[in-house]
Amino acid sequence: MSRIAVIGSNMVDLITYVDRMPNAGETLEAPRFALGCGGKGANQAVSAARLGADVLFITCVGDDLFADGTVANLEACGIDTCYVRRISGASSGVAPIFVQPDSHNSILIIKGANNSIRPSTIDEAADALRQSALIVLQLEIALETVYAAIDFASENAVPVLLNPAPAVADFDPARLSKLDFLIPNESELALLSGLEVSSVETAFAAARLLVERGCRHVIATLGENGALYVGQDGEWTVPGQRVRAVDTTGAGDAFVGCFAKFWSDGHDIRQAMQEAVAYSACSVTAYGTQSSYPDAAAFQTFCHERSAA
Ligand code: RIB
Repeated sequence: MSRIAVIGSNMVDLITYVDRMPNAGETLEAPRFALGCGGKGANQAVSAARLGADVLFITCVGDDLFADGTVANLEACGIDTCYVRRISGASSGVAPIFVQPDSHNSILIIKGANNSIRPSTIDEAADALRQSALIVLQLEIALETVYAAIDFASENAVPVLLNPAPAVADFDPARLSKLDFLIPNESELALLSGLEVSSVETAFAAARLLVERGCRHVIATLGENGALYVGQDGEWTVPGQRVRAVDTTGAGDAFVGCFAKFWSDGHDIRQAMQEAVAYSACSVTAYGTQSSYPDAAAFQTFCHERSAA
C-alpha cells in the first residue's frame, strides 16, 4: 500500500448548532453543542486512513488537556504519529464552529501549537517524506512551512497536493508551478485566480488560468454541484450527489482525503474524483467533522444504496 504524508493542522472542534447567528450585543440560546476532533490536516489524514490508506501525519499539539485526546484519536485511526510534536507552553489548536439549520457553517480558528510546524519540521521528516507516494498540504499552518514542503516535494520528485484552505490572498504564484494537484473550493479558486467564480463556466475559466500559471492538475470542489477538473488530462465535471445534508463541516477535507487515498492507490484522476464526490456527499449526511467520515465498509454501503435507489 502506498503511503500518504499529510503535513498540517489539527484542531479541537467546538461545534454549536444554531437556529440563527446572534447579532452584536445579543445573547442567544442554541439548541446543541458537540466537541470533536478536527483541523483541516487532521481531517484529511483521518478520512484517508478510515478508507484504509497508510497515513503519516506531521503536526504539533499543545501541552493542554486536548493534546492527549488528539493523539489518541489519530492513533485509533491507525495513523503514524511519530512526527506529532508536543509544544510546551502552547495551547492546542481549537475551532469554534457554528452550524446553521441549512447545514452550512462558519468557522473561527485559533492555531495555537499548529504555528510551531516549521520548515525545520520538513527537514526532520525528510527521509519519511521521500518515501511517500503523495504529500498533502493545506494552508492552516505557517505559509513558509507550506512553501518549504512544496519545494521539498519538487526537489525530491514526490507528488504534492495543495488544498488552499483557508484562502490566503498572497499565495506565491511561483509555487503553483511546482504543484501536481491544486484542490480549491469556489472562493479559494476566485482568490487564487483573481477571477469571479459564480458558475461552472466561470470556475472552468479560473481553473484554466491556474493551469496556465503552471499547476498540473486543478480540481475545483463545487459543493452540492460536485467537482470539475482542468489540467494535463483535459477538462471534465463530476456531478454532485443529491443527499439530505445536515452538517457540511469538513466536507472539503473528506473530498481531499478520499481523493488522495484513491489516486495514490493507482486509480486515475477521474475515478478518484468520483469516489471523493461520493465520500464528501456521504459525510454531510451526518453531524460533526471527523465523526461524519465513514470507514471503507460504511462508504461501500452508502454507494451501494445510492446505486440501487
Ligand atoms: O475544514 C473544516 C475544519 O476547519 C474544521 O475541522 C476546523 O477545525 C477547521 O480547521
